[in-house]
Amino acid sequence: MLQDKIKQYTGEINAFQATSAADVENYRLKFLVAKGIIKSLFEEFKTVSIEEKRTLGKELNEFKQLAEAKYSEYQSLFSGTSQEVKREEGDLTLPGTGFQMGSRHPLSLVRKEIVEIFKKLGFIVAEGPEIENDWHNFSALNFPPEHPARDMQDTFFVEKQEGNDIALRTHTSSVQVRLMEMGKPPFRAIMPGRVYRNEAISARAHCFFHQVEGLYVDENVSFADLKQTLFHFVQELYGEGTKVRFRPSYFPFTEPSAEMDISCTICKGAGCQLCKHSGWVEILGCGMVDPNVLNNCGIDSKKYSGFAFGMGIERITNLKYEIRDLRLFSENDVRFLSQFETEIV
Ligand code: PHE
Repeated sequence: MLQDKIKQYTGEINAFQATSAADVENYRLKFLVAKGIIKSLFEEFKTVSIEEKRTLGKELNEFKQLAEAKYSEYQSLFSGTSQEVKREEGDLTLPGTGFQMGSRHPLSLVRKEIVEIFKKLGFIVAEGPEIENDWHNFSALNFPPEHPARDMQDTFFVEKQEGNDIALRTHTSSVQVRLMEMGKPPFRAIMPGRVYRNEAISARAHCFFHQVEGLYVDENVSFADLKQTLFHFVQELYGEGTKVRFRPSYFPFTEPSAEMDISCTICKGAGCQLCKHSGWVEILGCGMVDPNVLNNCGIDSKKYSGFAFGMGIERITNLKYEIRDLRLFSENDVRFLSQFETEIV
């Protein structure tokens, strides 16, 4: 009788428990395939009387659903496990896959070198925000409002505010102001960081670049200290025998001000394209901190004096590695970057 068979197999399926993928497969072969039990019960169903069909049809359909539900339940259970087993079976004795080490960016290498030289002279590293207000970037540094010197540095403004614009810093001198406002002399610090100027991008100019500025404020700091410090720096960075010369210049925040040249690192002074056949290349600006700047930062300019200097890391790097195009620094071309020393730190 069909009804008895349905009952019997229902009991069998309810009791069924698979402990392996093979059990599940046997179950499928027994119940679900074209020649399996479900199919045969449906064949038998065709032969029963119309009255019986009403009740048996329902029972048979429920049985079919039960059989299929049980199968899919176990199937998902075991298919998951079998994949995991496969993963664990990987050959653990195979040699590992190596990965390629990157290299340091040339600007990072040179910044580090500059920092190390000044650290040995007792300079600490100070940092500040790249988005600055007018006071720290200009006013405290003795740039009066409407002063033409503000045009020397084409500024990217973030927000115009009455009396205190917010801008991307145009130099890290802003960090000098922050440092002096925060404490008491002596100050001996360098300020590495990224700065922004609104310039058309070319081989010789970019809208952002990197600086290291330095500040030394104490009693009796003189121009001789400035010269000797920078002379020592150049000997360390470019080698003994590199010559320096100072030319008078102008910055609102230093008085007197100077620009410092070094003997050309390529032709050693004989004259070449890089130094435009002069034998000298400019590397930094410097000077004695203007007393107005000290006063603006709450430091007694009668008691203290100081020197400051600032250089572009790109320029120093160009001279060191003979790089002719500033754009290479920010293009992230691996063919360029991979030429620099790899450090495992
Ligand atoms: N802040 C100057 C600049 O960005 C550099 C500088 C720093 C000059 C300190 C003199 C003293 O051009």
